[in-house]
Amino acid sequence: MKLNLGILGSGSGSNMQSIVEAIENGTLDAEIKIVLADVKDAYILERAKKHGIKCQYLDCAPWKTKLEGPAEDECIRILKDSGVDTVVLAGFMRIVKPKLLAAYPNRVLNIHPALLPAFPGVHSWTQALDYGCKVAGVTVHFVDAGTDSGPIIVQKAVKVEEDDTPETLHARIQVEEHKAFPEALGIIAAGNYKIEGRRVRIAR
Ligand code: GAR
Repeated sequence: MKLNLGILGSGSGSNMQSIVEAIENGTLDAEIKIVLADVKDAYILERAKKHGIKCQYLDCAPWKTKLEGPAEDECIRILKDSGVDTVVLAGFMRIVKPKLLAAYPNRVLNIHPALLPAFPGVHSWTQALDYGCKVAGVTVHFVDAGTDSGPIIVQKAVKVEEDDTPETLHARIQVEEHKAFPEALGIIAAGNYKIEGRRVRIAR
């Protein structure tokens, strides 16, 4: 079933771009109804405008790390008014709270630049490098009330090279992110999956 997406971001929006491209080249049956950014000059808003996608800044003050209170209410109102059925956190650097999750049960997806449950939180690629991991990666998962803890839809591994810096590793993880998000959304659009406890069972 065609997805009506609402995308929340804070940064460059390269993941949103990968979703736009999947839609434009016909590999993903979806439409982006609205893009919201909690950072006024986030490049994700520029990218949205270039593609003629409705977008706006969402003031999330006074909180710095979560989406709660009046901003959360406003976010839900905008998503519902825009006809969104699936919420995509594409580099959205805030914790979403139960009210948004209740408005979109099992329909909020997040991308995290690590092989969860390893390295939740921020700068996960640096955490993986500092830990001495030989393999890093990316996870797309349903969002639940925890931090980076919901059922996993897609994961992709990335080999850590001897001469990697946080920047080079993150760049290669992003290449996989840009495949993983459209793939995960394709699974949701196809609807041939079941969530059983922590497992997302996909019929291929
Ligand atoms: C991506 O690497 C994404 O995995 C990460 O932020 C970046 C956003 O890039 N998200 C998190 O760290 C969430 N905890 P983008 O704005 O170019 O899509």
